[in-house]
Amino acid sequence: MSHYYSEEPSTPLKTKTIEVCLRGHCFKFITASGVFSFGKLDRGTELLIESMLLERNWRVLDLGCGYGAIGIVASRFVDYVVMTDVNRRAVSTARKNLKINGVRNAEVRWGGLYDPVVGEKFDSIITNPPVHAGMGLLREIVINAPRHLNDGGLLQLVVKTKQGARRIRSLMEESFTEVRELAKGSGYRVYAGIA
Ligand SMILES: C[S@@+](CC[C@H](N)C(=O)[O-])C[C@H]1O[C@@H](n2cnc3c(N)ncnc32)[C@H](O)[C@@H]1O
Repeated sequence: MSHYYSEEPSTPLKTKTIEVCLRGHCFKFITASGVFSFGKLDRGTELLIESMLLERNWRVLDLGCGYGAIGIVASRFVDYVVMTDVNRRAVSTARKNLKINGVRNAEVRWGGLYDPVVGEKFDSIITNPPVHAGMGLLREIVINAPRHLNDGGLLQLVVKTKQGARRIRSLMEESFTEVRELAKGSGYRVYAGIA
């Protein structure tokens, strides 16, 4: 069965280009069938983008980048962004989106979880995680995040309030020194875990 988190989506490729303005900048995003949030910007992603903490000298990881909205917006505000996804169609779409938005301080890598960034550290890992892929995967994202973060680095993520937000927050509390709620709205919560 093909999901938005399949390695090779089996659905025929269709694309739709959307235009969105976020954090004071306007972007064009190619979206694709078989890639999360075809034809639109997900509301959880939007809340995360509007509330995520960013600093100019940061190196950021956008884990599970989909067509690339989080990493591309972040690239306007930080030094460098690495974007990763296990879905090959997401990777190729995100690469096209880097080009059409003129982004030069970001790259997209294919691979599962932290495989594409073995041995690398970031100032923040930012993700709208693949909740439908199961709590096991979410746990892997959360518990392995600190080893890819500099001291004081942040794991920033968005979750649906009714899809295990409380559980994810307590998972984060086990792995991070402090967890803050950055935003809530439209049925989502954005959390930041401080390493
Ligand atoms: C909820 S979507 C978010 C996509 C994008 N960041 C956005 O906000 O529009 C989660 C993404 O994680 C990717 N994903 C699923 N399992 C993964 C894994 N094991 N490693 C890396 N990415 C994964 C999916 O392909 C999907 O693009």
